[in-house]
Amino acid sequence: MKIAIIGKGHVGSALGAGLTRAGHDVKYGHRAPNARPHKVAEWGELVIIAVPYNQLGNVTIELKDVVDDKIVIDVTNCLDPHGELAIGFSTSGAEQLQKALPLAKVVKAFNTVFAQNQSTGCIGETRLSAFVAGDDVDAKQSVMSLATEIGFEPVDCGPLTSARFLEPMGMQLIQLGYGMQMGPSIGYRLIRG
Ligand SMILES: NC(=O)c1ccc[n+]([C@@H]2O[C@H](COP(=O)([O-])OP(=O)(O)OC[C@H]3O[C@@H](n4cnc5c(N)ncnc54)[C@H](OP(=O)(O)O)[C@@H]3O)[C@@H](O)[C@H]2O)c1
Repeated sequence: MKIAIIGKGHVGSALGAGLTRAGHDVKYGHRAPNARPHKVAEWGELVIIAVPYNQLGNVTIELKDVVDDKIVIDVTNCLDPHGELAIGFSTSGAEQLQKALPLAKVVKAFNTVFAQNQSTGCIGETRLSAFVAGDDVDAKQSVMSLATEIGFEPVDCGPLTSARFLEPMGMQLIQLGYGMQMGPSIGYRLIRG
């Protein structure tokens, strides 16, 4: 699959490495003049958005007319300038993104995983869960398949409104990793009895 990744930072590079290893064709869009998000997203069959939350509005404007009918994976964690949750409870960043890109198939995924674990989906031998939420069932299934190809164990979290739970989970991970000083070699795994 041709995968456009908007953002070539920690997250974009890690997911790109995992997806390249899985055999996908990856191109990055960022702020360099020769890597405009618009062009790269137009090329991609699927688009991953991995930019800071405060840049999501700018990126959305660039993507507006090139992501119709495409799957758009939202990896952002909605941090305000103080590092607090910027949005939540009655909506989520992913739902706001879906409103801004109404014809795209927005799926929330990978935001509950530290970047350093995103290229393999594992810590040591242990597979991490990739929590995936979205309204389009086929799109969500495709994202779960990509997550499996990287190395994660995907978990269907239901409709896009579940991003209201996944985004605070991302915040909790940051709190555990940095607030509680456990470091980034930690992650979530759903245990089924
Ligand atoms: N880091 C983590 O462990 C982690 C885990 C889960 C989720 N997240 C979320 O994932 C997102 C990315 O995090 P990150 O750690 O990868 O950030 P990062 O390392 O700072 O990388 C951000 C990337 O976004 C690009 N960017 C910024 N503004 C842009 C714009 N207007 N148009 C196009 N590209 C733009 C930057 O472009 P340039 O290369 O041109 O500077 C850079 O490549 C954030 O929302 C974060 O909350 C992070």
